[in-house]
Amino acid sequence: MLEIKKLNKYFGDNHVLKDIDLQIKSQKTTVIIGSSGSGKSTLLRCINLLETPDSGIISWNGDELDFSRKIPKSKCQAFTKKTGMVFQSFNLFPHKTALENIMEAPVTVLKKNKDKAKKEAMELLHKVGLEEKKDSYPHQLSGGQQQRIAIARALAMKPEILLFDEPTSALDPELEADVLNLIRELSKEEYTILVVTHNMSFARDVSDEVVFVNAGEILAKGSYEELTKLDNERIKQFLSFLN
Ligand SMILES: Nc1ncnc2c1ncn2[C@@H]1O[C@H](COP(=O)(O)OP(=O)(O)O)[C@@H](O)[C@H]1O
Ligand SMILES: [Mg+2]
Repeated sequence: MLEIKKLNKYFGDNHVLKDIDLQIKSQKTTVIIGSSGSGKSTLLRCINLLETPDSGIISWNGDELDFSRKIPKSKCQAFTKKTGMVFQSFNLFPHKTALENIMEAPVTVLKKNKDKAKKEAMELLHKVGLEEKKDSYPHQLSGGQQQRIAIARALAMKPEILLFDEPTSALDPELEADVLNLIRELSKEEYTILVVTHNMSFARDVSDEVVFVNAGEILAKGSYEELTKLDNERIKQFLSFLN
């Protein structure tokens, strides 16, 4: 289980995350919702240490980082490796093929043997339904296909948690469905998933737990069903935008 305690993050005077307490259960899917600018991306970026929190604790099955103290770089790197991030804008390497994109980190970061990395990358291409695109470059792929490659690339590192930051918000609705279906499939498997989305029907379908973030604070958490029953206009209004 991933546990976050009293996590704070400032950008200058802007107090973006305020005493965030959150537990993310292993092999479950947690969905983060909330309006734009409320700190959702920053929370994900703090979990994979793309941003360094100013205070608080993040622990993974008891192995903890306390940000009020200096943390050795090696410990941070080990922690980052536990996470696999999928960004809104895909962020594939433009001069590498789909297959090379997936193999890159296992070979360079994990020092995996190339043949083994290739075999695993082909299995992942199969998993995301894009084997026939193995030699295509990102610009030859649709946005939805690029995002599925980005998901395969994240899976290649065998992360303990998958982080998705609005994975379909750069996609046309007809391309969105393939990516959402893939995440739905992953959520039925053993993966631990944390996903930020504005798509409420997806949130309802896929979530074991929903976390509503508002102005850097967690306003509510529970099952989608439980959140719909809360007597809070702001949350009700948000959840009513079913796509
Ligand atoms: N790198 C950054 N530098 C300065 N301010 C930032 C940075 N990233 C985010 N912010 C600010 O932090 C707040 C939360 O942003 P963000 O986490 O992106 O929200 P969300 O993902 O919910 O839309 C916003 O006020 C935003 O302007
Ligand atoms: Mg965001």
